[in-house]
Amino acid sequence: MPHALETIQRFSWSTVSITCLALALSLAVPSATPAQAEEATDPGLAYSISRGGKLYDNWMTVLKASKPSETHPAWPASNTKRSGDVTWRCKSCHGWDLMGRDGAYAKGSYETGIKGLKALDGGKPAAVIAVMKHASHGFDGLLSEADFVDLANFVTRGQIGFSTVINYADKSVTGDKAHGKDLYQTLCVACHGLDGREPKEMDALGALAAGNPQEVLHKIRVGQPGEQMPGMHSLPVSMQADLLAYLQDLPRE
Ligand code: HEC
Ligand code: HEC
Repeated sequence: MPHALETIQRFSWSTVSITCLALALSLAVPSATPAQAEEATDPGLAYSISRGGKLYDNWMTVLKASKPSETHPAWPASNTKRSGDVTWRCKSCHGWDLMGRDGAYAKGSYETGIKGLKALDGGKPAAVIAVMKHASHGFDGLLSEADFVDLANFVTRGQIGFSTVINYADKSVTGDKAHGKDLYQTLCVACHGLDGREPKEMDALGALAAGNPQEVLHKIRVGQPGEQMPGMHSLPVSMQADLLAYLQDLPRE
């Protein structure tokens, strides 16, 4: 059976070379998160994640919606430092890092004791939508179906480990500042100026990045609600870290 053997051998050699090629490609491309791999096959997903992240930050600004005047019913009475519409932002209860009480909001003016959303990372969007619509959250009627889908895509597909980028003890960042400078001067400079002091209405980027790196990483990833600022979450996470590290070097006032 010489022919059959030859076929088997040829087949296995091509399998080996395809495996080598795949390995070489995966080594050449900076590692992609599972969501980034999915985005390659679903062109709407990257946009949905960014928009969901901005809704998570402040849906009232994104939707130009009127602000609830009451404090959210799930806001704990133990926290008297915050009240009113700010307590309706997802980030106020679950954190910029989506880590809730285990993250940056373990202490400070947003300390609530509420848990993070880690359990939903990679989970089913429908499960997140059910929670948002449930009476405990009360978003039914305030958000549209498209808003719910984008928020759920952000929660299930838009999470990264913030503590792999930010050292929570001293707020330092694992990133290459020199590379971050190149990225900043390519991606951000047109709107924020060389020294991060523009637009004039906002605090200097250097101060924000030093004081609240979790907030700034979230905004690097998804953009700023109600503004033209693009979200960068499709970049490798290492580049997001490089950007954040450079921002901490910019002038603080
Ligand atoms: C006022 C505070 C508050 C706000 C605002 C809030 N949540 Fe929650 N959320 C909670 C509490 C409390 C729980 C229940 C935590 C528990 O079971 O210990 C929860 C639970 C969840 C869960 C389930 C987590 C799990 O592990 O099962 C999801 C998903 C969720 N929230 C998503 C959101 C999203 C998305 C938004 C914004 C649209 C939001 N939440 C806004 C307080 C809030
Ligand atoms: C097309 C213009 C544009 C680009 C490009 C842009 N931004 Fe922005 N960004 C804005 C605007 C406008 C605001 C809101 C300013 C304000 O609140 O007054 C903003 C807000 C921010 C904030 C939040 C400030 C706050 O007070 O909450 C951060 C952080 C930020 N940008 C970082 C960046 C970084 C880093 C880049 C590059 C990766 C970038 N931006 C690219 C326009 C842009």
